[in-house]
Amino acid sequence: MNVVPTLIAAILWALAAVLFLLWIADWRPPRRRSLQIQVVAGDITTEKTDAIVNAAKSSLLGGGGVDGAIHHAGGPAILAACRQLRAGQYRHGLPAGEAVATTAGRLPAQWVIHTVGPVYNPDVDRSDVLRSCYVQALAIADAKGAQSVSFPLISAGVYGWPKEDAVRQALTALLSARTKVKTARLVLFDEESYRIAKVATGR
Ligand code: APR
Repeated sequence: MNVVPTLIAAILWALAAVLFLLWIADWRPPRRRSLQIQVVAGDITTEKTDAIVNAAKSSLLGGGGVDGAIHHAGGPAILAACRQLRAGQYRHGLPAGEAVATTAGRLPAQWVIHTVGPVYNPDVDRSDVLRSCYVQALAIADAKGAQSVSFPLISAGVYGWPKEDAVRQALTALLSARTKVKTARLVLFDEESYRIAKVATGR
């Protein structure tokens, strides 16, 4: 008896069974991580990355902190673009954890990606919303074709998020994100945040 056809059929059945199990388990081949994370001290408005991220308020109409610095350095074109967004898709403001891009006006970057961090509340865990800011900003960067993005430490100023945890959430989100962006820079404005981030990344 010729066992070869039987053997081939058995192998094909086994292969089909493995593929079926992988399909059920929604398996994907492991992707090589290509996002490089840099931790730097400085002012985000001078960053020469393709996009910088703004820790905006929901109104998108400017404020203090990094938001004020970005609008001040980038000029009125950013506010004009934000007003257009408010007149259209974001009539009720940008929800916390979401992100949207505008021109960067006079800034060296090409785009400002606005995101709204959560206000810190010790009684409610909003860390998923904070991580979403980073992930959604990278998704917008992908859509624009940006290869490099600079982030401030979202929610760690006026919104009161403890700096150490803000750094932890930022790094967790950046490390977990699926993105085509090659470089993410965490730009720390104050000495304490920079020191915490350096310790967290062991550099
Ligand atoms: N470059 C980089 N980081 C900066 C800069 C700057 N030029 N200026 C401030 N920061 C840092 C702060 O030191 C802080 O660590 O950005 C981090 C976030 O602080 P905020 O700007 O206060 O942002 P957030 O805590 O998310 O609060 C957002 O503040 O100004 C308002 O309109 C803004 O209502 C929104 C709220």
